[in-house]
Amino acid sequence: MYRDGCDIYHLPSRAEYSTSIDSEQVLACVDSGRPLPMARLEMSPRCDYNRRMEIYDQYAQVYDDSGQIAFSLKMVPYLDELLQLHQPPGRSMLDLACGTGTVACSFAVQGWETYAIDRSSGMLSEARAKALQTGQDIAFSQQDMRDFALPRPVDLITCLYDSLNYLLSPDELRKTFCCIHNTLTPGGVFIGDTNTQITLEEIWGNNTFFVESPDVAVVLRSSFEKLTGISGVDIIGFVRQPDGRYARFQEHHLETAQDKDEIRRLLEGAGLVVEAVYECFTLKPVNPKTRRILWVARKPEKP
Ligand SMILES: C[S@@+](CC[C@H](N)C(=O)[O-])C[C@H]1O[C@@H](n2cnc3c(N)ncnc32)[C@H](O)[C@@H]1O
Repeated sequence: MYRDGCDIYHLPSRAEYSTSIDSEQVLACVDSGRPLPMARLEMSPRCDYNRRMEIYDQYAQVYDDSGQIAFSLKMVPYLDELLQLHQPPGRSMLDLACGTGTVACSFAVQGWETYAIDRSSGMLSEARAKALQTGQDIAFSQQDMRDFALPRPVDLITCLYDSLNYLLSPDELRKTFCCIHNTLTPGGVFIGDTNTQITLEEIWGNNTFFVESPDVAVVLRSSFEKLTGISGVDIIGFVRQPDGRYARFQEHHLETAQDKDEIRRLLEGAGLVVEAVYECFTLKPVNPKTRRILWVARKPEKP
């Protein structure tokens, strides 16, 4: 059955459901190399622009509940620490690729004039609902980070949780960094993180991850293609509907990890000065085993 872009399945009740597809069963298959108890998915790590446009629109509804919110909850106090060390000139900010808006809301709560941009309408509607619920006034807009603008420049721009890894070529990063430069006030600060190739190749590799909560089950199947350096992740979710049936969705995400020297060159090429490069969630320098890099860059006071 097809409804609102989702396949609707008659799955057993929750108790039976957890024994029919549960994490142990999936992990046993992964350990033994047997196929998962579901149809094999077609995976192509090659870039398909139309499919990329659709990502996060359905995943959005379960993004927070499937555990992804944990990253932002860990990031918020870390950002406080970073902003003590790398102070912006004022209290206006943009969260670029804001997702479900957790970080943007945390700034708005502290009295920052807050803007938030994402390309996915699904993510933006979750973010808008979160802002409404917490009574925060945030200026949301649906834009592509490779070509965005705000009505006025801001003192801080954040771009967090792999968002930059979704840009698959140096040219896409270059365009994004130029927009960031154009949107910062003089002396304004950019903070962003990037997964390194170690994460894509060794941690994600060719693996299956399974997340299960009372109303949601999500399978993430990653496949790393060494030749292109691109990691393709199929995300298959089952979301319990009010009538007890489960709606199935599937998205195909692509990420890559540019070399850190290349990212530095692109930031500097856009006119930003790299102020610090940390192992994410610490104030330690990066090392060859670093999985996620945290970048702090500043727009010079004078051009
Ligand atoms: C892993 S999520 C991170 C969301 C949020 N920053 C967080 O910390 O939870 C990646 C986000 O990047 C957004 N995104 C990916 N490519 C984009 C693009 N070209 N322009 C704007 N947003 C984009 C996705 O829609 C998604 O919300």
